[in-house]
Parts: sequence; C-alpha cells; structure tokens
Amino acid sequence: MNACVRAIVRIGAYHGLEVFGFERGYEGLMAGDMRRLGPRDVSDTIQRGGTFLRTARSEAFYTRAGLQRAADTLAGHKIGGLIAIGGNGTLMGALDLAGFGAKVIGLPGTIDNDLAYTDQTIGFDTAVNTALYAISNIRDTSTSHERVTIIEVMGRECGDIAVYAGLTGGAEIILVPEKPVDIDDICRTLIESRNKGKKSSIIVKAEGVDIGLAALNREIAGRTGLDVKDVVLGYIQRGGTPTANDRMLASVLGAKAVELIKEDIHGVAVGMVNGEVVWPALGEAMKMKKRDIAPLYDLAKLLAL
Ligand code: F6P
Repeated sequence: MNACVRAIVRIGAYHGLEVFGFERGYEGLMAGDMRRLGPRDVSDTIQRGGTFLRTARSEAFYTRAGLQRAADTLAGHKIGGLIAIGGNGTLMGALDLAGFGAKVIGLPGTIDNDLAYTDQTIGFDTAVNTALYAISNIRDTSTSHERVTIIEVMGRECGDIAVYAGLTGGAEIILVPEKPVDIDDICRTLIESRNKGKKSSIIVKAEGVDIGLAALNREIAGRTGLDVKDVVLGYIQRGGTPTANDRMLASVLGAKAVELIKEDIHGVAVGMVNGEVVWPALGEAMKMKKRDIAPLYDLAKLLAL
C-alpha cells in the first residue's frame, strides 16, 4: 500500500496537483484528519509493508451519517478526487460514497485477492511469497518427523492464497472455502501418500474453510493414526517487504488513478487484467464473478502425485 501511495503522491506532484493523505482510512476521512503529502513525504516507503497513513476498520463510515460526513469533508476541502485503496469493504464503501456525490476511484489493496475485476490485488503476491517461505521451512520439520502438518493461511472467503502458496509449496492437500471439505477423502489421500513412499504431508488450509483447525487435526489424527501438527500463519502474511510484483502493480495502478483524476474520470475501480490496466465502473467491478480457481486447484492435486 505504501508503494501505491508513493506513486499517487509523486505522479500527483508531477502533474502539479495537491495531494493529501487521510489518516486511518475512512475514519480519517470522516474526521477530516488529513495531511498534505509531497514527494519527500513518501521517501523510503516503497520497501515497507503496511501503510504509513495507518488504517482502521470503520463501522461508522458505512452508515448514512458516516458517508455524509465523509462527503462533507471532501466538499469542504474541495478535494477533486478521492483514491480509496483496499479490499471488498473499502471498494463497496467507495461505491456508497460515490452515491453521495463524491468523486471516488477504487484501487485493489488486499492480501485476499478477492476482487474479481483485477487479476491480482496489491499485497496478494507478497502474502503468497511469505506463506510459501513459511511452508518451505515447516516442511523441514514435517519431513524429519514424518508428520502431517496443516498450515492455515488467510484470505477470508477466498482460497487464492491457499491455492497459490499450496501449489508452489508442493502441498499434498489444499483446502479452500470454494470447495466442500471431505474428511474421508483427505484421510484416504494421506494414507495413499504414505503408501506411495511419502514421508510427510503438507495440508494448506484457507481460514475461510468451514472446519476449525483443531477439529480438523483431531479428525485426521483420529482416523489415520498419523502424527498431525497444525500452525496458523496469521499476521506474518500481512507484513514485510513487498515483492517486486506487488510494488510494480501498486506503482502502475496508483499512477493510473491520478491520470484518471486529471481527466475527471471517477466512479471507477482501477485494476490489471492480462497485463493491461483496466478501469471498469465501480458498480460493475463489484458485481463481477471471480475467475474459477478450479484449474489451479486441480493442477496442484496432480502435482502432488
Ligand atoms: O482482509 C485481509 C485480512 O488479512 C484477511 O485475510 C483476514 O481474515 C483479516 O484481514 C484479518 O483482519 P483483522 O486484522 O481485522 O483481524
């Protein structure tokens, strides 16, 4: 997100625009808590995770009163365009705010990759690589002790982090919210793996899957007699230095958002599809259906033979 704000600030300065950053996302927008940002204010931020403007999960914003306060801030300060960077909630909020007359552009910033209008969201690639690094480390213990290790990754209702990290990490089994969990099938696969000569197994489980980690561990251990460990990767996935791909995506999309504001284009969500920058209407973008991850999921299964 820092790389994206950096791009917005610097491309804004290049075009002679005044750029302000709202502190703590929509909370700061409602409160008018903002600061002027120039090129030097974003120095030394491109390599940092998180967001130097900080963020907040705001419930108040999603009320009529909250949206009105946010729209009043924008009007009061004569803000010519608001760029909102975030996931589903943020972009739905941006859409609501547009209904109050605000000129808003949405950018996809979430590790979950759960926005359908763009191939990838800013943060996803870094989260996947962090999860992949963790899986590779955990695999050493798993193999040495001949264990089954269940690794839970984030993603809310979206299984993309699990599928990408699972496939590239060589997981035997990947569990995602988009597919029903079949414990019998999991246990059969694990036993077959052992019979095929595998010494250990990695299961990557998305947090949105309908069974808790402890229960899953208990069921598998109870039914197979295998030594099962589990680990939640948690917030490690939401921090750290961003990958080159994420910095590139953040920079390109941030720059495009500023260009659109210059052309007085708003009410759109900027993303990247097949290497091309796209900016569908926010309402359309939020209605799009995510590309099916089944082919990658199936490939991961085959690769675990
Ligand atoms: O939406 C991003 C995300 O990291 C999810 O993957 C995760 O479930 C959630 O945020 C965690 O949110 P919080 O920081 O509020 O616990």
